[in-house]
Amino acid sequence: MADPAPSPQMLNVQIDGVWHEFPKGTRVIEACEQAGSFVPRYCYHKKLSSPGNCRMCLIEMGFPRLGPDRKPELGPDNKPIINWMPRPQISCAQDIAEGMGVRTNSPLVKECERGVLEFLLINHPLDCPICDQAGECQLQEFSVDFGMSKSRFLENKVKKPKNVVLGPRVTLDDERCILCSRCIRFCQEVAHDDVLGFVNRGSHTELTAHPGKRLENNYSLNTVDICPVGALTSTDFRFKMRVWFLKETKSICTSCGTGCNTIIGAREDVIYRQTPRENDHVNCCWMCDYGRLNFKYLEAENRLLEPQVRFGEKLIPTDWSTAIAQAAQQLKEFSGSEIAIVASGRMTNEELWLISQLAKSLGAQWIDIVPRREPGDDILLSEDRNSNTNGARLILESKSEPGANLLTIAEAVKSGRIKALAVLGENPMHLGIAEAELAQLPVLILMDILSNEATEKASAVLPGCGFAEKRGSMITCKGRLQRLNRAVRPPGNARDDWEILRDLLQAIGGGDSLSSLEDVFRRISETVSQFDGLTLSKIGDLGVHILKIEELPPVHPGDQEAIAKAVALQARRRAVRRQVDDARKAAVTQ
Ligand code: SF4
Ligand code: SF4
Ligand code: FES
Repeated sequence: MADPAPSPQMLNVQIDGVWHEFPKGTRVIEACEQAGSFVPRYCYHKKLSSPGNCRMCLIEMGFPRLGPDRKPELGPDNKPIINWMPRPQISCAQDIAEGMGVRTNSPLVKECERGVLEFLLINHPLDCPICDQAGECQLQEFSVDFGMSKSRFLENKVKKPKNVVLGPRVTLDDERCILCSRCIRFCQEVAHDDVLGFVNRGSHTELTAHPGKRLENNYSLNTVDICPVGALTSTDFRFKMRVWFLKETKSICTSCGTGCNTIIGAREDVIYRQTPRENDHVNCCWMCDYGRLNFKYLEAENRLLEPQVRFGEKLIPTDWSTAIAQAAQQLKEFSGSEIAIVASGRMTNEELWLISQLAKSLGAQWIDIVPRREPGDDILLSEDRNSNTNGARLILESKSEPGANLLTIAEAVKSGRIKALAVLGENPMHLGIAEAELAQLPVLILMDILSNEATEKASAVLPGCGFAEKRGSMITCKGRLQRLNRAVRPPGNARDDWEILRDLLQAIGGGDSLSSLEDVFRRISETVSQFDGLTLSKIGDLGVHILKIEELPPVHPGDQEAIAKAVALQARRRAVRRQVDDARKAAVTQ
């Protein structure tokens, strides 16, 4: 067994008259917070460098008084007597030291806080009633907690540019900027895109993009999150909703294998924004713009709202029990190599487990998921755009890599060997099967949230839920099991996918005693060793690591080739789809 990590050296620090112990290397501002003495801050962000430029975190600091023997003199409490420095110090750019003394609530500190806030507010516009940051603005909050109740400033405020388009997703109001430089440092240190900087001097200093550059990297919206005031706003979210009306739900992003932790902000079943939630095991405090804004499709016009079954040439809306009974009846007419199930790598573990049971009950020989690969980056974005490929690997117990059988399934559909195809959570048009070939299938069961060209060919259509409309668990590309939570209700008569699959399984003749998602998870933990001893509630808000990636069987070169071909085919189909969409849009606007 490896030696345990050595415990860090502990240092004694006196904060507001009380002695505490902290590990060596702790920032003074963090030590104060841990001791229950919050120090206001603007430029300091624990995941960025500390330039110490806003001066909001001033404190009184001192060090042990040394006696003639150069040893700290001790007071009646047997602790060092502190020699206080005559001037206040910033607490964000300095680590603690042995015997250090800190005062966060002395008259001098209070006077400094009021003074710094008065300076910061001198040129700040009276925008709060129309500012998107209202409700989560640190300038408002610290003004109330640490500032003065009135202004002594009589001169005209400096005017600066408003409504500046910094990039496709971020809008700047320079008058509100308090020049903390968090956004500049984020772009340099995290996004590796040195795009922002300050120009001009004194009261006229402005934030701007460097000449010829735009704030358009895939992480640009994180600057909006960390801007302590309303200077940087999300172009998508601004003026849409007051933040105090938003119901916040802790969840995860399902747009790639990283699984960034998120907070979904919704009101009356409409999602207004997604923001990152801190999890140092997964995404630190950040998320990419692509994942953050990838929720609009939940309200697309082609959302499936009712279960439908085929009646002659037409699909007709029906109730759930009829749709499930008909789908089950049709599937039961075939068996073995005549049935194929294509699932999605964006499904939850619970859904995938129910699909595996469905396949077992039907004796279906073919089962796979649709791979989704696109270029990633070395920050967060994974090249695997499926959020639960590892869950599919574990639960479907396929002998080949997820996605490797897809082209074989498509070939078998074309040749007529497969008679019943269930496509769950995916668009069958991406499998490389033409519409006419889908139309030839005696049974085509579709479960999805959006309609597409294939929907009209289905024998039963089962409308499911989007990522923000359901609960469940997924495993990230690094092997962390995390929970997905429901933020909004699904529209129309759409149902949670696990319930649809459970009902289908029961109609086929299995899945008894599964009355809740927790029951399904329990079954997984009983059958998949990596889930042993876990429950949905034990996963917690930050997830648990269950999988060492090196434990997975190595990818077979043949599998890799098959997956690459399937992905290339999807890319071609998407390109054609885009062309058709563009042509339609152009025709509408003419
Ligand atoms: S725009 Fe916001 S984050 Fe950037 S320097 Fe100004 S106040 Fe700070
Ligand atoms: S990196 Fe992946 S998981 Fe994170 S926000 Fe982007 S798409 Fe979502
Ligand atoms: S937070 Fe310390 S100087 Fe800004």
